[in-house]
Amino acid sequence: MRAAAWAALAFATALAVGCGAPSGDDDGGRGSDAAAQAIGGPFTLINHRGETVSDADFRGQPLLVYFGFTYCPDVCPLALQKLSLALERLSPADAAVFQPILITVDPERDTPEVLSAYVSSNGFPANLVGLTGAEADIAAVAAAYRVFYERVDTPDSYADYLVDHTSVIYLMDETGAFVEPYTHASAPEDIAAGLQRHLARRASG
Ligand code: NI
Repeated sequence: MRAAAWAALAFATALAVGCGAPSGDDDGGRGSDAAAQAIGGPFTLINHRGETVSDADFRGQPLLVYFGFTYCPDVCPLALQKLSLALERLSPADAAVFQPILITVDPERDTPEVLSAYVSSNGFPANLVGLTGAEADIAAVAAAYRVFYERVDTPDSYADYLVDHTSVIYLMDETGAFVEPYTHASAPEDIAAGLQRHLARRASG
């Protein structure tokens, strides 16, 4: 963990926002160096094709991991669009190195079928993988990534409820170790620059 990356993550978690339902809660400032070293971890979830997959299935590829949900009216689509724009700034071969993953914080509604339609949305990364699973498994992987999420009932809205959640795109390296965070507020060119730095580190061994 580089100090700069951790500072950026603390900033990003301070920016954690709800999707439509304001809440005073976020997990900014909770982090410590010990916590920083522990970002990420093993998971076994269900992908948008209905297949059981684990973190080990993605080993060898850098991942761009985002937690969100398909009913999110604003922040999740924005984050995924920013990520797509960033990847489009790389060569196709370079972009293909990275595996973008959306892990739902709303497994009750985000079934594999719902995720399958969502991940193929226009403007999202072409190879985006959606992951869902049992509530306990989602809670465990969210905790491993220091992601806060909380259901907020919105009886007057289209959605019955929304989910406040941390909005961080985690760049994880090919061994599953955290590299650095981006957010829905990051500029695509800044995300792209971070991805290029990672490619350069890979190339230099
Ligand atoms: Ni969202």
